[in-house]
Amino acid sequence: MRHYLMVRPAHFDVEYSINPWMDPGKPTDTRLAITQWEGLRDLYLELGHRVDLLDPVPGLPDMVYAANGATVVNGRALVARFHHRHRRPESPAYLKWFTGNGYRDVRQARWDNEGEGDFLVAGTRILAGSGFRTDRRAHDEAAEFFGVPVVGLTLTDPRYYHLDTALTVLDDDMIMYFPGAFTEDSRERLEKLYPDAVIASAADAAAFGLNAVSDGRHVLLPQAATGLIARVRERGFEPIGVDLSELLKGGGSVKCCTLELRPAPGRAS
Ligand code: ARG
Repeated sequence: MRHYLMVRPAHFDVEYSINPWMDPGKPTDTRLAITQWEGLRDLYLELGHRVDLLDPVPGLPDMVYAANGATVVNGRALVARFHHRHRRPESPAYLKWFTGNGYRDVRQARWDNEGEGDFLVAGTRILAGSGFRTDRRAHDEAAEFFGVPVVGLTLTDPRYYHLDTALTVLDDDMIMYFPGAFTEDSRERLEKLYPDAVIASAADAAAFGLNAVSDGRHVLLPQAATGLIARVRERGFEPIGVDLSELLKGGGSVKCCTLELRPAPGRAS
């Protein structure tokens, strides 16, 4: 069982553009966003996971992308410091939620740090992205705060501005990723660490197929990523296609909407 934190897209809209997917000129349908988001939340519940909710704040249309609010490992919460001013007011809501929900080790990040958008926990290490949002110095801060080794990876394609748009952790030892989103150094690093990784095609990456959540067995991912759905099944996982087309207009999908809360060892979450 996993424990997730989500934010209902009650105020979802695309009012500004801070990534290439966002076009404020395109109409959005908040009702449909909510219905699609409820579908994802219901799937987690049907799979036996626990989902907590953080209240959406009016005027913060990107708040539905809960993955960006923090990184939580061993019951310790490192709360985001957003790169763009539009999202900075989200941090206090996360600080308040963690302190109000029994977390004793809560820190607001010192450097730009967009939570699980750029920090992906993979077994005993954290894979950390930078290049667009998260500051490299935030990688050292996370390594120190969590006491876990952090592997830095540099993103180069503005469409894949967060690590979780270009790489998915499938289980402690297995990942899938789109090499075209990374610098050559980072690609070499990934090849060395994960020689058997699932490699995503450009088409699956563009369908946001890597913005996926795995519980170690089921992999929830955008249904349009048909190639990845087949690859993941071949590797023994159970893929579940999800339609979050409305939320894609803000540049996010399954993983962006899902912040994983990892308890301290020996404690139920
Ligand atoms: N509009 C949001 C932004 O650009 C989308 C965030 C997506 N979240 C993610 N984990 N990649 O900040």
